Amino acid sequence: MAKEIWKGGTLVYPVPAVMVSCGDINGEKNIITVAWTGTINTNPPMAYISVRPERHSYNIIKESGEFVINLTTEDLAKACDYCGVKSGKDVDKFKEMNLTAAPASQVKCPIIYESPMNIECKVKQIVPLGSHDMFIADVVAVSVSDEYFDESGKFHFNASKPVCYSHGEYFGLGKSLGTFGYSVRKKPPVKKSKPVLKKDASKKDAPKKEKTSKPKKKPTFKKKKTKS
Ligand SMILES: Cc1cc2nc3c(=O)[nH]c(=O)nc-3n(C[C@H](O)[C@H](O)[C@H](O)COP(=O)(O)O)c2cc1C
Repeated sequence: MAKEIWKGGTLVYPVPAVMVSCGDINGEKNIITVAWTGTINTNPPMAYISVRPERHSYNIIKESGEFVINLTTEDLAKACDYCGVKSGKDVDKFKEMNLTAAPASQVKCPIIYESPMNIECKVKQIVPLGSHDMFIADVVAVSVSDEYFDESGKFHFNASKPVCYSHGEYFGLGKSLGTFGYSVRKKPPVKKSKPVLKKDASKKDAPKKEKTSKPKKKPTFKKKKTKS
């Protein structure tokens, strides 16, 4: 295997693709899809989003000093993409994507009710970086959908089928490869049975649907010959 050298670029993938809601639930509100986002501190909990000043959402977030990071799921992938290609200047993205703007607990902007996790943020600092400004924020509250709790009260976020974004494509999570620290764990983990979520408890005995899917064409890769 040989390596090609490229000039510097934004190639840390996969990343989350989140829907950031902003504005005022009783006034102008909007949603912008953001991939340049993440956690930047545990205690106090802090997160960031990087937004280009030309986005319609930019001034809304700058003026209000608040935003909500709404995590996306496979069911929300289409809405997430739509909110990343259409501008709030031209369309009401809540309306077009049938998304519910619900009140947040600590900020004036709405949460997207359909998202399983809404992370409410208050801007602490704006760092101009070049193409994007980075909004560094305190996480002031988080709301989670109760359908992903099991009967013992444990929250199973991965059951919401989160989505990530890698090199221009959206993906689901795929299979679990291990849990935190599994590389050094002595005992093999006890095989967990699938949790019964509150939302599925009633469907437990329902007959299963058969799945049909078209086979997908896989890309072929050029393998360069190296001099021996
Ligand atoms: C997957 C994806 C990720 C994106 N990430 C960002 C981002 O991190 N920062 C940003 O400024 N724009 C990002 N965009 C582009 C904005 O979401 C897009 O320009 C949107 O239409 C802006 O909406 P607004 O004008 O209503 O604010 C992304 C778009 C997509 C589809």
